[in-house]
Amino acid sequence: MRNGWVEIEEGESKLLIPKVEAPEEGEVFYHPEQALARDMSILFYKSYDYEVLDAFGGTGARAVRLAKNGVKVTSNDISDRAVNLIQKNAKLNGVDIDVIHNRAEKTIHSQLWEAIDIDPFGSPVSWVHCGLLNSKKLLAVTATDTAALSGTYPRVARRRYGFHSKRTPNYHEIAVRALAGFVVRQGAVIEVAATPVFAHTYRHYTRVYFELGKGAGRCDQLLDQMGDSNEVGPIWMGNLWKKSLVEKMWKNRESVTMGSKWTLKHLETIKGELEFPQPYFHLHKLCKSMQITSPPMAAVLKAVNGVRTHFTPLGFRTELSETKVKQELKRLTSS
Ligand SMILES: C[S@@+](CC[C@H](N)C(=O)[O-])C[C@H]1O[C@@H](n2cnc3c(N)ncnc32)[C@H](O)[C@@H]1O
Repeated sequence: MRNGWVEIEEGESKLLIPKVEAPEEGEVFYHPEQALARDMSILFYKSYDYEVLDAFGGTGARAVRLAKNGVKVTSNDISDRAVNLIQKNAKLNGVDIDVIHNRAEKTIHSQLWEAIDIDPFGSPVSWVHCGLLNSKKLLAVTATDTAALSGTYPRVARRRYGFHSKRTPNYHEIAVRALAGFVVRQGAVIEVAATPVFAHTYRHYTRVYFELGKGAGRCDQLLDQMGDSNEVGPIWMGNLWKKSLVEKMWKNRESVTMGSKWTLKHLETIKGELEFPQPYFHLHKLCKSMQITSPPMAAVLKAVNGVRTHFTPLGFRTELSETKVKQELKRLTSS
């Protein structure tokens, strides 16, 4: 390793991480901002009782934290430095992790797994098909090519994810729905029903979790929930969250030490927004398009009987149509 190691703490775990100021492309490094995503994955996997293949292990941060929280985990990475680090971190924390040094696609195909976690750099599209083929119960997929998913690069979106895109005010949610829709369609091709059960974004990090089942009929029911939003599509327009699962995750918080101070805030907001089927509205962008000044969020939420969204502090969800929302915003600004 270029500059050696440094020991840090995340949640309940100690982690040795590379002491690297500016990582080179593809180099193993520790991303503190992703502690929130790791917290969520602990809360998620603790809600089931399956062994997880962490197919892109990196520093071992996710695998070690899962193992410390009682989840059985196998961690894989293509890089010998990463594999070495995962082993070191497992030892440092006194946990037992099976570590594999291979390409993710080879490890994924080597057997049937109960749960597969796909967390590469950039786009996950190359591994979704093999993940769907080789996981029996759960699949989690991360994308950090958010610009492609959220309308900045429509050609890349069409090529990579197969949907028509443009930049919309609620692009964070569109990115999640586009990623979910891609996995649902890839599953349908091989008659694997991949039902989205949990999703979140934080900065440029987009992540969706799926429960997997079998059968053409179930796939057809999922495909019926694909659609368009604001001329962007086809994307997943069904539920992003399974209520009973989110409740379990919320309960699990009692026994998990969070690595990020934002995790529970996000999860609590998700608990409030999960039953609103329509994508969120962005207060400032909507008001700007109407050439009015934004009223305070609290007043807006009251007027539209709405809730906040974890996607952005400037977003809100409501059951009202856009026309009705605009009427309420006008009324608020003129009163
Ligand atoms: C974003 S990091 C993983 C972060 C980790 N899951 C965490 O939460 O800390 C991506 C890792 O994928 C590894 N990688 C890239 N391509 C791979 C491939 N084809 N097979 C296996 N590992 C790969 C890299 O070496 C890197 O360690």
